[in-house]
Amino acid sequence: MWKALASLWTPAFVFYRGYRLPPRELRGSMCGEAFRSEDFFLQSAVVEATRLPARLGYTAASRLVDVGCGLGRLATGMLVEFGEVEYFGLDANSKFVDWCRKHIEHHHPSYRFVHYDVVNEMYNPLGTVDGDSIRLPVVSGSADIVYMWGVFTNMGPEHVQIYLAELARIARNGGRIFLTAFVEDDVPEVSFNPAGYVPFDCSYPLTVVRYSKPYLFSLVTRFGLAVEDFRYHGGMFPKQSEIYLTKVERVSTN
Ligand SMILES: C[S@@+](CC[C@H](N)C(=O)[O-])C[C@H]1O[C@@H](n2cnc3c(N)ncnc32)[C@H](O)[C@@H]1O
Repeated sequence: MWKALASLWTPAFVFYRGYRLPPRELRGSMCGEAFRSEDFFLQSAVVEATRLPARLGYTAASRLVDVGCGLGRLATGMLVEFGEVEYFGLDANSKFVDWCRKHIEHHHPSYRFVHYDVVNEMYNPLGTVDGDSIRLPVVSGSADIVYMWGVFTNMGPEHVQIYLAELARIARNGGRIFLTAFVEDDVPEVSFNPAGYVPFDCSYPLTVVRYSKPYLFSLVTRFGLAVEDFRYHGGMFPKQSEIYLTKVERVSTN
């Protein structure tokens, strides 16, 4: 009986190579099967953190906002790479944010996490904030870097447009924005759970939202953001392409 009970018990965290990671089940529910491996989760976290100085001009003084921070993967990588630096993450899923606060922020108070109760059919279907009332809890023009891995991948075009406007609002002039998305040429502007596109189950609404590149890029520029670089990854796991943006400085004509 004890064995049966033990198999039902889920630890609050996994201590791995000196770092607290979310339990395996929680990791799988957020990012997919590959992330159930401790090694993969931690290595991918470090890869994301090293992207910051390598591609986004990050220094220890940078004000960084992690939109859709999930289970603190980037934060964990930043702890490994940079130690006790300032970090701010927000997410629509209260369970993920609770985990981050308890197991990251509590031990490393310069890492802060906030739940933002915006509706998302996949991650927060009962969310109370929607449409025009969406306003990220970040001061305008305050962010040097906005990071958003795997969020537009599960977001319809109405929210993508609102979020692009919000990214443009919170980034400082010349600020850098990194995001990933399912992007292809020669596909409809938007496709929800397109058949045969990914090798995993798409039974939840918004499991995969795929955009045509010209359409997504036209939205980006509409909100005063310039595409600095695009790395296509549609042909391999995890199929999310990388998009690097800069907030264009608006020159006053007066
Ligand atoms: C695939 S996970 C990626 C998590 C994290 N960025 C990472 O790289 O590990 C997507 C995350 O985005 C969050 N999310 C989805 N829609 C959101 C929204 N509108 N605003 C903020 N977070 C959102 C989900 O709750 C989930 O934690």
